[in-house]
Amino acid sequence: MTKCVHVDRNGDNTKSYQQIVDNWLKGEVAAFPTETVYGLGADARNAEAVAKIFHAKGRPADNPLIVHIARTQQLQGFIEFVPEKAKLAMDIFWPGPLTAILPLKKGTLAPNVSAELSTVGVRMPSHLIARELLQFAGIPIAAPSANSSGKPSPTTASHVLEDLDGRIPYILDGGPSSAGLESTIVDFTVEPPALLRPGSITEEMLTSVIGEMTGAGTLKEQQAPKAPGMKYTHYAPDAPVRLANLDDPSTKGKLRDLQKQGKRIALIATNRHQALPHDEFLSLGLTDDLQVVSSQLFAALRACNKLNVDIIVAEAYPKEGLGHALMNRLEKAAGGAWL
Ligand code: TXA
Ligand code: MG
Repeated sequence: MTKCVHVDRNGDNTKSYQQIVDNWLKGEVAAFPTETVYGLGADARNAEAVAKIFHAKGRPADNPLIVHIARTQQLQGFIEFVPEKAKLAMDIFWPGPLTAILPLKKGTLAPNVSAELSTVGVRMPSHLIARELLQFAGIPIAAPSANSSGKPSPTTASHVLEDLDGRIPYILDGGPSSAGLESTIVDFTVEPPALLRPGSITEEMLTSVIGEMTGAGTLKEQQAPKAPGMKYTHYAPDAPVRLANLDDPSTKGKLRDLQKQGKRIALIATNRHQALPHDEFLSLGLTDDLQVVSSQLFAALRACNKLNVDIIVAEAYPKEGLGHALMNRLEKAAGGAWL
């Protein structure tokens, strides 16, 4: 049985943090909230503890984990040096949803954290509870998203339970994650730095601070250094997902045709598209506020597994600003397929 420990932003959560940290120091795993998604954490210096993360998630061993810290001084313990552009970006965007890939100091972290690479991803979350917990722990915490490998990332403690109940001892429940998409990942060990995964810290925000970057469309697929995890299937609900431009007048007819063939449709979209043909509607918010859409997307994809549907049609968004990160996740969920 997994124990769910509830905390709130206004209370004194010391006892709860103590429970989680004792558990980490014993070499166990525990899930905790961040502003992006829930993470499944373990002591990044302890290889046996880190192995339990891979085991609980069913995660391939060649997919490295990112390390979470509360203070920049902690970097000295496991980073060889911090490149100038990384310093600039960390100054502006930390704490927050930016993961920096940095050169790893050999022999400091458990080797399975970085899947034997010479680099490691580091992130300082801004979520109040994550910050207090990591501060309390004082040790680097390795944490991927707290979902089963291949499923959408969890944005609530109950999503974590859906995937990992009985497989992990603890979840710290701090309410829903506000950003809802995983952190932006930038590799600062190459020059110019490379954007490996788009997120709510957008390419535009980053280039205004560190200048030119590669990745995200500027380089050909094969040349671009990639986050190893990006090659795996992701965010996939049980029924197939198709992307659709819902403002396109032909969409209505396509949805009707599917229904005529006896297919039950789940439509994932903002409320203004509710009049389109569907059998189940999963709302991504009242308006086209991409921040709200992002925070609701993974919950909507997960909810589809509890509905009796044959196909999931998801609204596509323009690839601008936060739209890049949204479409990156949606394209993966759909395997690139359109209606
Ligand atoms: O918002 C987030 O980043 C969340 C929360 C919990 O912090 N974490 C998260 O972790 O999304 P995960 O493991 O689900 O995704 C991390 C990605 C993976 O695709 C992994 O391959 C990549 O980061 N990654 C980790 N270390 C890397 C490295 N040294 N070089 C390149 N990519 C790396
Ligand atoms: Mg993940």
